[in-house]
Amino acid sequence: MAGAMLPGAVHCNTSGIGVAAHGDGLQRLSLSNRHRMMREGIFIMYHTGGGRRDPPDTVPRGGRHLPPLPYPYDALEPVLSAQALYIHHRVHHASYVQGLNRAELSVSAAVQEGNDALVRHWERELAFHGSGHTLHSLYWRNMTPDTVQVPDLLQSVVTRDYGGLTVFRRHYLAAAEQIAGDGWAVWVWQPQYGRSEILAAERHENMVQWGSKPLLVVDAWEHAHYLDYPGRRAEYLRAWWNLVDWRRVQARLHPHVGV
Ligand SMILES: [Fe+2]
Repeated sequence: MAGAMLPGAVHCNTSGIGVAAHGDGLQRLSLSNRHRMMREGIFIMYHTGGGRRDPPDTVPRGGRHLPPLPYPYDALEPVLSAQALYIHHRVHHASYVQGLNRAELSVSAAVQEGNDALVRHWERELAFHGSGHTLHSLYWRNMTPDTVQVPDLLQSVVTRDYGGLTVFRRHYLAAAEQIAGDGWAVWVWQPQYGRSEILAAERHENMVQWGSKPLLVVDAWEHAHYLDYPGRRAEYLRAWWNLVDWRRVQARLHPHVGV
């Protein structure tokens, strides 16, 4: 059972054992009880549910490829131009993929060759390029050219944790705008606390909170906005907000919280 649930929530895992939250208490549910609750119209949410899911990322060391964008390069205009998106994806993200492949192979080779002095260097490269690859992959997929309403589950969590979408937006964009130098604003699910949190990753190779799961990321590095919004990070961030695919953000939140 990962994370906490909203009062009155029902949550089931794929092992067939359900857990329900009633106020402050948790109660195991038998299969018959789950069927009864379904008959009575009590909503049950499964770990495997949620629709739009991120693809698994299981590839051999050094064998990673740049993932394609889930839309054409000009799909996010006028907020992000086709030229800016192409360079961001094909140059900057691609360099993280290349760097990650090189680091994965090199750290193994260094150990096998007894060259332990190089391990520290390659571990740093592994963290830097690996984080860059992961965050960019999320960034592309938490944007969409579609007009998307905030789904109910996500709205409930935002209201519970921040008081509402307006405060959440102001908090998230302020965190992104005030990052020193390059970095990311990352909305995460923190299972240790059973709630969400907004974090600012000023050096993305450093974990901003161990164990947390990224839900929504925005790239605040200069390379994300220097073509379309030179020297105007705040303007980029406010325009970017309208591209967020809240359906996909909710799909990442879905396994942890039920309504
Ligand atoms: Fe970037």
